[in-house]
Amino acid sequence: MLIIKNLYKCIQQAPILREINLEVQRGEVAVLLGASGVGKTTLLRVLSGIMPASGGTIELDGEQIDTEQLRTQHTVGMVFQQFNLFAHLTVEQNITIALEHVLHKSKEEARAIAHELLERYGLLDKADYTVGQLSGGQKQRLAIARTVALKPAVVCFDEPTSALDPLLTSYVASNIEELAAEGYMVIVSTHSPQLLEKIPCTIHLMRNGTIVESARSINFFADKQDYLQIAAFMAGVEHKRK
Ligand SMILES: Nc1ncnc2c1ncn2[C@@H]1O[C@H](COP(=O)(O)OP(=O)(O)OP(=O)(O)O)[C@@H](O)[C@H]1O
Ligand SMILES: [Mg+2]
Repeated sequence: MLIIKNLYKCIQQAPILREINLEVQRGEVAVLLGASGVGKTTLLRVLSGIMPASGGTIELDGEQIDTEQLRTQHTVGMVFQQFNLFAHLTVEQNITIALEHVLHKSKEEARAIAHELLERYGLLDKADYTVGQLSGGQKQRLAIARTVALKPAVVCFDEPTSALDPLLTSYVASNIEELAAEGYMVIVSTHSPQLLEKIPCTIHLMRNGTIVESARSINFFADKQDYLQIAAFMAGVEHKRK
């Protein structure tokens, strides 16, 4: 279980995250929902050790972990909004490079793990393609495979649907759901309500650098009047879509 207590983050003296309290269980999908600029990406960056927190604690399975551990132990994997794949490498090399250089696997071992993952994500026949030859959905699957290769406990997705055709959102949703079913803790940032309707999850509405309301999606969709802030945010997004 991941427990975040009182997390703060200031950038150039400006408070970007404040009093973030969040718990995520194994097998749970936690969705950080909120408008642009509320701090969703910043929270994921702090969790994955890309930037240090300014205060608060992060605990995984009862043990407190600091930024250095988060960065070096790959406890929290991140699937970036723009995927951040290595454009000059092949599909297979995008997975093997981290296995060889970060986990110090042999070339053969890295290849075997990459093949297994490429097969699972339907990319085995594309192993020798370059990243540029993949579609948006295939790039995202490769980004997931590369993240999972390092065996993180938590997998974060930053705006997983924004770079995709709306039709592919269902595939993304099933990939996310599958990771949760395997026992990963999954954290997804989004400002689009589409995903919430597709995956059973816990919704955490963010505003101004903090979580202002949380609800299990099943409870929210059954009793929207109990979660007025989430309902108002969703209604606003719907309104803008029209
Ligand atoms: N490196 C940085 N330096 C200065 N300010 C930053 C930095 N990174 C983020 N911010 C500020 O922190 C706030 C939160 O940004 P963040 O990217 O976390 O928002 P977000 O919720 O992910 O938004 P979006 O939905 O547009 O992706 C913004 O006001 C942003 O300008
Ligand atoms: Mg963002």
